[in-house]
Amino acid sequence: MLQRLQKILTAAGVASRRRAEDLITAGRVAVNGQIITELGAKFSADDTITVDGKKIVAVDTPVYYLLNKPKGYISSVKDERGRKTVTALLPQNERIYPVGRLDRDTEGLLLLTNDGTLTNGLLHPRFTVDKTYVASIRAEISAAALTALRCGVKLDGDGRLTAPAKVRVIAASNTETKTEIVIHEGRNRQVRRMFAAVGYEVVALKRTGFAFLTLEGVSRGKWRRLTDDEVKMLYELTGQKR
Ligand code: URA
Repeated sequence: MLQRLQKILTAAGVASRRRAEDLITAGRVAVNGQIITELGAKFSADDTITVDGKKIVAVDTPVYYLLNKPKGYISSVKDERGRKTVTALLPQNERIYPVGRLDRDTEGLLLLTNDGTLTNGLLHPRFTVDKTYVASIRAEISAAALTALRCGVKLDGDGRLTAPAKVRVIAASNTETKTEIVIHEGRNRQVRRMFAAVGYEVVALKRTGFAFLTLEGVSRGKWRRLTDDEVKMLYELTGQKR
């Protein structure tokens, strides 16, 4: 993303905006080896920027998106096999990546950002961010299975019990059950594997909530930016300062 030089210097922690402007007009700032004295000139985090000959580390302006991911997209920035990736659904002028992942066949709420500090905080096992899913199976679910899911189950290939989960049935017939399940761990394909551990195959999976965020107002395949307050609250959940 292109930004004014003084803004890049400020974001990189070199100086206040005012002082950054003074550095530029004094001819102390160079971009890609060339002194720049013009205040309106725009550059990107990819350019090599020096102040008094010392290289600064430019930081992209943080951006935060909430995407309603459709099925059929993988949660990566690029795919060597040419499969569709979630970043194709978002503005193309920013380098963003997903916060965690949803399987290709899972739909729903996915955050994307270029803010590594927040991403690390949200994914760190020490912080327990609730993730809410609607999981459908083609069967009636037994009371024993519900209890096991709530208390913790052992996933295939992993001897550790899952942490207690909140699980409730939200729609049921004798051929299909829709459940809402809230977990805070982020093990690979966790919800599908939890149901598999109690004998059921998940036939449709949608993430409907991430912490206090929901899909309200964001239809499938669409996105919105997080508000400043939402970003602040996410930071608070991770115990970090913005
Ligand atoms: N659990 C799963 O099984 N799949 C996902 O995509 C997310 C959670």
